Amino acid sequence: MTSRIRFVRSMVKAAAVANVPKHVDHFSKFSPSPLSMKQFLDFGSTNACERTSFIFLRQELPVRLSNIMKEINLLPDQLLATPSVQLVQSWYIQSLMEILDFLDKSPDDQKTLETFVEVLEAIRNRHNEVVPTMAQGVIEYKEAYGRQDAVTDHNMQYFLDRFYTSRISIRMLINQHTLVFSGSTNPTHPDTIGCIDSMCDVPEVVRDAYESAKLMCEQYYLGAPELELRQMNANCIRQPIQISYIPSHLYHMLFELFKNAMRATIENHEASRILPPIEVLVSVGGEDLSIKMSDRGGGVPFRKTERLFSYMYSTAPRPEIGEKHRAPLAGFGYGLPISRLYARYFQGDLQLYSMEGYGTDAVIHLKALSTDSVERLPVFNKTALRHYKLNLEADDWCVPAKEPLDLTAFRTAK
Ligand SMILES: Nc1ncnc2c1ncn2[C@@H]1O[C@H](COP(=O)(O)OP(=O)(O)OP(=O)(O)O)[C@@H](O)[C@H]1O
Ligand SMILES: [Mg+2]
Repeated sequence: MTSRIRFVRSMVKAAAVANVPKHVDHFSKFSPSPLSMKQFLDFGSTNACERTSFIFLRQELPVRLSNIMKEINLLPDQLLATPSVQLVQSWYIQSLMEILDFLDKSPDDQKTLETFVEVLEAIRNRHNEVVPTMAQGVIEYKEAYGRQDAVTDHNMQYFLDRFYTSRISIRMLINQHTLVFSGSTNPTHPDTIGCIDSMCDVPEVVRDAYESAKLMCEQYYLGAPELELRQMNANCIRQPIQISYIPSHLYHMLFELFKNAMRATIENHEASRILPPIEVLVSVGGEDLSIKMSDRGGGVPFRKTERLFSYMYSTAPRPEIGEKHRAPLAGFGYGLPISRLYARYFQGDLQLYSMEGYGTDAVIHLKALSTDSVERLPVFNKTALRHYKLNLEADDWCVPAKEPLDLTAFRTAK
């Protein structure tokens, strides 16, 4: 390539980058369109039309990307300036530009549709490391500026919950399109459409996640608690428990919960040779499918329960990025918060009930019906903006004094 052509290309690229804020402003004015599990399924099954999906995604992906890019811009300047956050931002800009390239392409051109799938796959790979990179940015920021105040902590939590949810949803859209239209069907799982299994066997996923966590646990601690699994299908006692869900999301949540339960059980029973089992109960009714995992790992104090979902907190030693020999059962402290996002993404939830001194119950609630499972998506609007502008106001509940009250003043006043 002559240097002249290279120069012209870099000028064109620079001009495109300069236009990005305008595009972000434009697309962030639209609200994302949440899809239901049923829509995902219908779309991928009988009337799968690549052309329609292409037209939807070339609008919807820029909308979802731009909505969250607006929020990235509201982060504290020192955090935005960290190399890690700069890198994440550059990935978002690059991916947005690549999708915008398709806005003026004809949806009737087969070649365009093929290139679109390739571009989406490249985008998915580019964003593989977003979570650890962003986590690294937060660590750099915390180390450089010391302990943050309550407002910054609140804003970070609010932002990261929304940012990671947005990422989960964008990957979901990309995965569905690329899997459904890459032409390869999954012969071993005829009920799967893209990454959704319309007959997801929940107890089977529980067992899979348990086996993987057990392997890790045995390698590290040379032992692992047993699993006791029970199920209750209130709709039809003898029928297996199956829902339309994304097995990989469910697996992710259960794997994280098992790792935590195993670590707690072992560390709490170091002295004795007998490990109490981890009990899992799966139940389904008319509306909910719930999974309760109970361990006897000694629990955590009630006061700390909410903190366990914080991105700024873990009791395990901080792993270095790329560190090879770290403890495999605990890491960044992202296990619980990210799992809760997966549960909430389709209108479910994940809660922890701990009894200090005994153990912990972790409960995942999911929607049993595919019409109720609708994406829960962040939208950038005035309410969101207000969250970032929140000031540290005086608490509206009394703060107890640290020292005992000095009553002499009252006595002399008598
Ligand atoms: N079942 C449990 N029993 C006791 N403590 C628990 C349990 N589950 C979680 N915790 C506490 O909550 C903290 C946060 O858990 P979380 O899974 O989010 O992060 P982590 O396990 O420290 O790291 P990782 O990112 O690898 O999961 C843990 O460090 C642990 O102290
Ligand atoms: Mg964990």
